[in-house]
Amino acid sequence: MKKILSVLMVLIFCVFVQQLHSDAASDIKEAVKLYSSGDYKAAAPLFEKVFSADKSDKNMQYNTACAWALAEDKDKAFAHLKDLADAGAVFLSMLINDKDFKSLRDDPRWEKIVNKVRENINKINLALPEKHLTKKIVALPAPKTDGNVSVEKTMQTRRSVRRYKNEALELSDISQLLWAAYGITKPNDTYAFLRGGLRTAPSAGGLYPLDIYLIVGNVNGLEAGIYKYKSSGHELLLLKSGDIRRELCNAASEQLMVENAPATIVYSAIFERTVSKYGHRGRERYVYMDLGHSAENVYLQAGALDIGTCAVAAFDDLKLKQVVGMTREEDPLYLMPIGKLRKKTD
Ligand SMILES: Cc1cc2nc3c(=O)[nH]c(=O)nc-3n(C[C@H](O)[C@H](O)[C@H](O)COP(=O)(O)O)c2cc1C
Repeated sequence: MKKILSVLMVLIFCVFVQQLHSDAASDIKEAVKLYSSGDYKAAAPLFEKVFSADKSDKNMQYNTACAWALAEDKDKAFAHLKDLADAGAVFLSMLINDKDFKSLRDDPRWEKIVNKVRENINKINLALPEKHLTKKIVALPAPKTDGNVSVEKTMQTRRSVRRYKNEALELSDISQLLWAAYGITKPNDTYAFLRGGLRTAPSAGGLYPLDIYLIVGNVNGLEAGIYKYKSSGHELLLLKSGDIRRELCNAASEQLMVENAPATIVYSAIFERTVSKYGHRGRERYVYMDLGHSAENVYLQAGALDIGTCAVAAFDDLKLKQVVGMTREEDPLYLMPIGKLRKKTD
């Protein structure tokens, strides 16, 4: 029952702002109250009533399934879950981890639902590209390796910034931030696994599992589109033209900074690069540690340039993969919207 509170908040918002759905809002409020008090047998029909009034509301249908499962009406719970799975649901981790479905897991129908959801996910993954096609290569200006702001100052003043000036970023800003994220500082062609050399951020075994995209909406010198940063050569590969910030924001749980920022850095990882050497430890620890090192560099470099950014990890993995057009083997990890800092006078 993870989505009930957010659904409730959205509905309450509607009631106050648009004066709509007042009956539904009070029914949901009552259903949540009954659910929270453990009276599932009373809560479930109320959820069912709300869902019946708007059958397009998948979150409400999921919550209705939860309530019926807890009320131990397995047939009704399974009917809703099957409906959702048949309609293409991809909520695998919610399904597997949601304690509300405990009573369903020994039933043979459970495995069928889980398999159907897996199938839905596989279908989406198979539609993702195996490789990227580059439309254009954009050389980035050489990054500066010296600046006017001390590293101590950037640490002291660093904050996560979620509102930006409505102004374009410069190509030199982009160059500096991507270099800070994963730029090559010690070229090396001897060891192929380094893919160009040692970088600004440390990486377990020098395996550099991260891939970095740049989603451009408003940057002087770059057409709007989806780019991939290539550390060797310090260049951007244009993968797709067009402004996708609205879709990106939607994939990031509608966090509006993602739509409003002139550009967003998107991190993904190919876990296999690290896992092939370090196994389980690589998967559970090293890739995320690598990500933290790189993202902190972006925070500090942004601070030195009077640019705001914010680490964003709340997003829908599959949606984000689709919107950015990641390859099948990549896992999305972080978004970092970037934009010029608003001054108090702006
Ligand atoms: C792993 C991680 C995930 C985060 N995800 C989000 C997010 O999805 N949305 C958001 O607004 N901030 C996100 N943040 C930013 C934190 O909210 C922020 O770092 C925290 O409030 C401390 O504020 P500060 O960065 O200004 O010191 C995330 C930070 C980390 C480290």
